[in-house]
Amino acid sequence: MSGFKELVFSGVQPTGNLHLGNYLGAVRRFVTLQETHDCIYCVVDLHAITATLSQPDLAAQTREVTAAFLAAGIDPKRHIVFNQSQVPGHAELTWIFNCVARIGWLNRMTQFKEKAGKDRENASVGLYDYPCLMAADILLYRATHVPVGEDQKQHLELTRDIAIKFNNDFAEKIAARGHGEGYFPVTEPLIGGPAARVMSLRDGTKKMSKSDPSDYSRINLTDDADAIAQKVRKAKTDPEPLPSEEAGLAKRPEAENLVGIYAGLSDTTPAEVLRDFGGAQFSAFKSALVDLAVAKLGPIGAEMARLVKDPGHIDSVLADGSARAAAIAERTIADVKDIVGLIRRG
Ligand code: AMP
Ligand code: TRP
Repeated sequence: MSGFKELVFSGVQPTGNLHLGNYLGAVRRFVTLQETHDCIYCVVDLHAITATLSQPDLAAQTREVTAAFLAAGIDPKRHIVFNQSQVPGHAELTWIFNCVARIGWLNRMTQFKEKAGKDRENASVGLYDYPCLMAADILLYRATHVPVGEDQKQHLELTRDIAIKFNNDFAEKIAARGHGEGYFPVTEPLIGGPAARVMSLRDGTKKMSKSDPSDYSRINLTDDADAIAQKVRKAKTDPEPLPSEEAGLAKRPEAENLVGIYAGLSDTTPAEVLRDFGGAQFSAFKSALVDLAVAKLGPIGAEMARLVKDPGHIDSVLADGSARAAAIAERTIADVKDIVGLIRRG
């Protein structure tokens, strides 16, 4: 990766119901990375319209995700927080990448298959092209590191393939401009930890998701202490007590999930959690998990509620971040146009 300045980029869709999976798989790591890297965090509103263009209140949902970023501890002054549609470079670079990516590559994307379901002919072209927009998000800033949950791994591989093909297709022109190791970095995914894939509280084999019809399947960042307690107490489990070793979690997806959540929220590992709770009944473990979840998530939810009451403030944070993001993006778009041979103004 030498030659590229380390830069973190990630995005979250404003599709409502930000939940514990988003927090543990993504947002909490965004907060930590601020200490070691320059970071750009984007509310990806253009991605949010790929499934359904017309939404009840996209702007409110965009502000809510922004509020979650701020409430979780992201500092919009030291880093950049903005919404995707305010920076035109995302859509522009997507078009170039549409001409880099191959149909065969996109046809392999499992998220498209899941989201399009049986009626694939009726899915939007935007949903199909979603991974090219995501590659553009990252590479517009020539970001080197991308923290995401496990479910985004395949999209990041596609991003790498796009960077490599663009670098190869234009190798001579890129070298002539002094970019010896390619114009775009081959981005590193940052995926991992005990909660890279948080599962539904109702079914340990399904991902915790914003779109699950049962609200009991997830803990929302806006849930109050009572809601958190009820959801944890109702979470599906099996009749056995907790094992003392991780191996004992095999084939017990619900137990594994709750232990992973506890480890994620307490910044420990499943092995350490089982050292403390091995042999315990779920009722006791769930009580401890309720206390931990309320202590960690309660203040975030309360701060989000406070922030969303002042949409003007949130909009000004997004406007400031967008202006700073656009300044970086414009340089990339100018370079890319020159490399491809598109005549540009000034
Ligand atoms: P999305 O809400 O789909 O935009 O996702 C935002 C971030 O949360 C991405 O980095 C996802 O990979 C991550 N994420 C979403 N659901 C989960 C989950 N159940 N477990 C862990 N990470 C998740
Ligand atoms: N596709 C991601 C998700 O659903 C959101 C996203 C869009 C993203 N652009 C990105 C994540 C760029 C990381 C980097 O979770």
